[in-house]
Amino acid sequence: RKGSELIAAFREKRERAQGSAKVKYWKLEGAQVGAKEKEDHERTSRREAHERHTLLADTDAFKAATFSAHLRNNENSNRASALGEIQEKRRQLPIFSVRDNLMRLIRENAVVVIVGETGSGKTTQLAQYIYEETRGSPRGMIGCTQPRRVAAVSVAQRVADEMCVKLGRNVGYTIRFEDETSAETRIKFMTDGILLRETLTDPELDKYSYVIMDEAHERSLNTDILFGVLRDIVKRRMDLRVVVTSATLDAHKFSAFFGMCPIFHIPGRTHPVDTFFSRTLPHDYAEAAVRQVMQIHVQAPVPGDILVFMTGQEDIEAVCGTLAERMMLLESPPPMLILPIYSQLQADLQAKIFEPPPEGSRKVIVATNIAETSLTVDGIQYVIDSGYCKMKTYNAKVGMDMLLLCPISQASAQQRAGRAGRTGPGKCYRLYTELAYTEELHVGSVPEIQRTSLSHIVLLLKSLGISDLMSFSFMDSPPSENVAKSMLDLWTLSALDDEGRITDTGRMMVAFPLDPPLSAMLLSGAKLGCASEMLTIVAMLSVPTIFLRPRGAEQQSDAAREKFLVAESDHLTFLHVYERWRSMSRTSAAGVSTCDSAAWCRQHFINAKSMQRAAEVRRQLQDILAQLGLACASCGANWELVRRSVCEAYFWQAARRRNLVEYTSLRSNFPCCVHPGSALANSGYLPDYLVYHELIMTQKEYMSVCTQVDPAWLVEYGARFYSFRDSTRSLRPSDAGARSGVDLVAQDGAEASRYITSSSKLD
Ligand code: CDP
Ligand code: MG
Repeated sequence: RKGSELIAAFREKRERAQGSAKVKYWKLEGAQVGAKEKEDHERTSRREAHERHTLLADTDAFKAATFSAHLRNNENSNRASALGEIQEKRRQLPIFSVRDNLMRLIRENAVVVIVGETGSGKTTQLAQYIYEETRGSPRGMIGCTQPRRVAAVSVAQRVADEMCVKLGRNVGYTIRFEDETSAETRIKFMTDGILLRETLTDPELDKYSYVIMDEAHERSLNTDILFGVLRDIVKRRMDLRVVVTSATLDAHKFSAFFGMCPIFHIPGRTHPVDTFFSRTLPHDYAEAAVRQVMQIHVQAPVPGDILVFMTGQEDIEAVCGTLAERMMLLESPPPMLILPIYSQLQADLQAKIFEPPPEGSRKVIVATNIAETSLTVDGIQYVIDSGYCKMKTYNAKVGMDMLLLCPISQASAQQRAGRAGRTGPGKCYRLYTELAYTEELHVGSVPEIQRTSLSHIVLLLKSLGISDLMSFSFMDSPPSENVAKSMLDLWTLSALDDEGRITDTGRMMVAFPLDPPLSAMLLSGAKLGCASEMLTIVAMLSVPTIFLRPRGAEQQSDAAREKFLVAESDHLTFLHVYERWRSMSRTSAAGVSTCDSAAWCRQHFINAKSMQRAAEVRRQLQDILAQLGLACASCGANWELVRRSVCEAYFWQAARRRNLVEYTSLRSNFPCCVHPGSALANSGYLPDYLVYHELIMTQKEYMSVCTQVDPAWLVEYGARFYSFRDSTRSLRPSDAGARSGVDLVAQDGAEASRYITSSSKLD
């Protein structure tokens, strides 16, 4: 796959360079450096002298520590003049010049669509204008939705800064499992998913007097559903004002959807951007991007920052790391500040992209398509566009959503190029040919509702009382086979009955802000008497990476990790880590002492922030469980119950071992392997049957987060789909002899599928 070569080569190099890199890491941890390491260290000092020119603000503790001093100096001088500057900057934004007309339009119309280039001030200013208009006391809250978590947090912080208030007071944000709002909050940023969930408990959205649906052009699934929900609400609530914003010119579609509501254009202030296509299609887009960055850096004067569009954490890290290496090969180049940004990156590192680079250095931001419209960074003069993005797409072969590498659309390509022309004339380098652009790229992007699984949305709509899904007002209807498929999935989890109506189980599932199978796992845990354990596992599955594998300390971290592995299950491994972490915290006198907890995490290469988040998520889920009146019992050491619970919720995603290393999925018979990062793979224990949490596609299909199951459980929980092929054999799981001969067949689910869809008014 394109781009994978640089990633692979980078990984290998990283492994080879382990010796010297280890020294750096230990040095930072304050550990003793031995003689051998000292020698290595001296050998690398020339390298480091060069590295000082390369400010790689990466996730590594090493980089962060080395350069934080530098950034701190910067920060102090910034803060002094920041406030005055911020107000001045607000007045310079294009939206400021049209403020009065815009506010009048919003006052006079229930729904207004606002179109403006990225960076014109829609996200940061609109809510503030409304707030100021109502003299700081709007009747209800001003809600502003964002399709992305990172954006919701970052713009809330920015607006709080602009208003000189502490985040969480007047201005706050809510994203899943994280609520930074209070009784005082008047402006609330949130993900679109949060507002959609709020309609479950507050169907008229009475808390709000203004709803800004930001970034509508992204056409995220939740935004699309909100469109339909809000269209009904504004018909009933005359006092509600809805503002829809878009960075692209597709606004007429939004306007038409809301009964031809007015469209307001914020005059753009853009500079010309020269666009260059690649003459040939590069063999490896990540490598091509690195080369292009270096070429600009060497040839073009500083400043003039560079924005590189990659697809995800992997290629971003590879590009950042390789850039740092290439910098080392140069004789005293101008300093370069390398900044990755992707959704799983720690929030404090994400915020760094907005900081001005140190005097005389160049900022290189390597981003996912989050920087396409959601986040605007000033000072970008060069854009390098890989032409790819990762998109959540329903994969019919494996029967689930997957993040796939896809070519971007022409509209996206234009958006990306536009990022270079905000503050002055810019240049955009496309790492693909002009022919590829015209012939292979779609004109516009396919809305998420038409390409992903809809299970949680179907369940949500059903619980809102919309039983006939096809009568719901969609801006673009989802393909009916997608709806049918999602209903089938929900039916297998007993969330819908044979008639396609929501069941009591389904209603309980909706109460959790989780994907239906994860909710099913909690409910199963409650039933089997291991809810406490399932809460932990679900919480651990809902937070970013638990096990850290820092660059240069791969062996140590792998060794540390080994101690936690539970051979037969990744789910149990997570449980084990969490229980060890809790018991460690408990032994330190006063409850959870963050200091000890941090030290423990560092020692074991565990992500301390993720552990704390998991504890918080767990607490929230436990509250919901209590509200549902379900017991939160623990099964103690009886971990078989835990595996049963996992199996009950995930029997649909089961696989059988085919040979020494390979498995076949029971549901659709495709070959797959246990992910090398899995506890099962690491302990060399590959059971005959397992269930998996998700599939990751790289060169192969990998099942990640797996748990060994007894085939008899599959037949028990998945009775509608599985049966023993040879029914004369004993079904008793305790009968080991019989079990080894047992085989499963997946029954044809199509029949069930036909039944459930025909009775739900889909046709
Ligand atoms: O939403 P839209 O793309 O129209 O613009 P915006 O996100 O409101 O950004 C307006 C200005 O605020 C831009 O110049 C951004 O660079 C700046 N901004 C910032 O400096 N820091 C942030 N965290 C967010 C925005
Ligand atoms: Mg915006």
